[in-house]
Amino acid sequence: MNPKFAERTKAARRSVIRELLKLTEQPHIISFAGGLPDPATFPREFLAKVAADEILNNPGKTLQYTTTEGKLPLREPLSRWFAEDGMNFPPDQIVVTSASQQGLDLIAKAFLDPGDAVLVGLPTYIGAIQAFQAMQAKLVGVPLEDDGMDLDALSAAIATTRREGHTPKFIYVVPDFQNPSGITWSEDKRRGLLEIASREDLVVVEDMPYRKLRFVGRSVPAVASLDTEGRVVVLFTLSKTLAAGLRLGALAGPKEIVEKIVTLKQATDLCTSSLTQRLAVRFFQEYDVPGHIRMICNHYRAKRDAMLDALDRHMPKEGISWTKPEGGLFLWVRFPEHLDTEQMLPRAIEHKVAYVIGAPFFVNGRGHNTMRLSFSSATVDQIEEGIHRLGLVVAEELASLRSPQRA
Ligand SMILES: Cc1ncc(COP(=O)(O)O)c(C=O)c1O
Repeated sequence: MNPKFAERTKAARRSVIRELLKLTEQPHIISFAGGLPDPATFPREFLAKVAADEILNNPGKTLQYTTTEGKLPLREPLSRWFAEDGMNFPPDQIVVTSASQQGLDLIAKAFLDPGDAVLVGLPTYIGAIQAFQAMQAKLVGVPLEDDGMDLDALSAAIATTRREGHTPKFIYVVPDFQNPSGITWSEDKRRGLLEIASREDLVVVEDMPYRKLRFVGRSVPAVASLDTEGRVVVLFTLSKTLAAGLRLGALAGPKEIVEKIVTLKQATDLCTSSLTQRLAVRFFQEYDVPGHIRMICNHYRAKRDAMLDALDRHMPKEGISWTKPEGGLFLWVRFPEHLDTEQMLPRAIEHKVAYVIGAPFFVNGRGHNTMRLSFSSATVDQIEEGIHRLGLVVAEELASLRSPQRA
């Protein structure tokens, strides 16, 4: 058979990172590649207990279909969570999703016709790139500075995009501890983003999977909390604060957008899992949620500190810099232009250490001299040893780039 796939599937790409991760899953490798939350943070006993109770005693709500927008007893605590963080989304402006990746897919379906443009950071989260490319969108990259997007470049990119005949539909941002860079936007940049969105009449999609994972410093207001015009759509997830395998998140935004998303979601999955929604309802009702989040933050803070400390001691300094994230799971290393992290990867695997190459996070074909390091899964001892190995790998690579044979 010669399957005649839709035109749009030609734009859909497999994640390079998922392919590379297979390489890094060999035994004895210390991997900073995967961006997964640490299973040690999942409340396993609680979930096992309430799952058994729900399945045995509440099958009508747990094993049955539920509404497309999601269970109200889950949307209510989510609405309160948003409110505590300055965001005003009543339950009827929230739709429960199969975590934020489904939110990205639904946003893409709701807004993007082939050739429409989305403004994204350089770098940006790969899962978002995949979701938008699957709709044949044009992705326009805007450089990220240490405190958020370069807003002059954003304005210029919007103008160029329009001149070239593409319609920009939204700006996609991860303002807190971004994946992959760990960068957090300043309040000024968040306000500036909204001004530009208002002037250009664009939606802002604020993806905030890591927002609750702040370990140090003061919280910066969510973009949605500064929005006075109802143009921000928020993507939220329980993947990093409860358990990623439950596949639970939420999309919140202006009513008109949420209603459109609910209609599209009907065709996608009818509803998000009733069982996992009930587990999350019980989590909010019965668990010490603030204490749990404090535990998670302490857990990752220790690992982040270990990684920053090890980088200071083991990583060559010349022309090399890294971000110092105040939360989340990642930090980002920039090398001199002539060092290509993809070319260096076999050397790293030989030394039994792994990272994620930076280029796939760039929609403009650049970023070959960058890498993402995740501090979530390795132990503190492994972080020390792994960064020690990585320092050696980088030193060797730089030396070999200087040697005449390689030139
Ligand atoms: C920025 C960002 N958005 C969305 C997701 C998707 O996560 P999930 O679908 O588990 O909520 C991730 C996962 O790592 C992410 O880093």
